Amino acid sequence: MKDIIIAIDGYSSCGKSTFARAIAERLGYTFIDSGAMYRAVTLYALRHRMVNADGSVDRDDLAAALPLISIRLLRSAQGGGQNSVFLNDEDVTEEIRLVGVSDNVSYVSELAEVRKHLVAQQREMGRNKAVVMDGRDIGTVVFPNAELKIFMTASPEIRAQRRYRELTEKGVNVSLQEVESNIRQRDAIDENRMVSPLRKAKDAVLLDNSHISVDEQMEWVMKLITSITSTQP
Ligand code: DC
Repeated sequence: MKDIIIAIDGYSSCGKSTFARAIAERLGYTFIDSGAMYRAVTLYALRHRMVNADGSVDRDDLAAALPLISIRLLRSAQGGGQNSVFLNDEDVTEEIRLVGVSDNVSYVSELAEVRKHLVAQQREMGRNKAVVMDGRDIGTVVFPNAELKIFMTASPEIRAQRRYRELTEKGVNVSLQEVESNIRQRDAIDENRMVSPLRKAKDAVLLDNSHISVDEQMEWVMKLITSITSTQP
């Protein structure tokens, strides 16, 4: 079977990473959670006090610091195709999921310098194909020639419930309302930013998973992949 690039974009918390990881596991591909890279840069910026209370970012300082920020995504020792995320050799897998990072990541990912830096790394990761990458601009900017592009969505209420369950299961103290407002705010920023706004690529397949199960999703995508790889030269 020919190796391909699978780009999965869409709104926050609609299960992109879980889906991308499951596809990668099934195919023996590398899973890359590009959102984790934006989150790691955000954590760095927060720790170095480059994000102000109003959400503005000390852009020049962060741009100058980018060469000092090393991000590595490794297969987690826990298995399941998870990515462990390392920021300058420190394991920040858990920390980048905390509300402080979630609340600020859209401000950092709006910056052209940050995007340029991370997009270059993401393209390098896909050089040999056989990757499933999820994010917001994978099918539109990072891999415009990806053989399969999926654009995922689900209603904001359903996404908030899923994310809330995920966070509370991890013991994070947060209300459903807070989670939903963070999701709506991130949607708005992701869709309206100047650089690489969240858009469905023209040739992406739309997947609204508000009311379908993970197994159904998987069955649907495997058929799609088989039809693509069997017609590829
Ligand atoms: O997928 P996620 O929710 O972990 O992503 C975190 C943030 O990073 C999200 O608010 C938008 C940003 N992001 C982006 O701008 N481009 C990507 N390719 C991936 C994520």
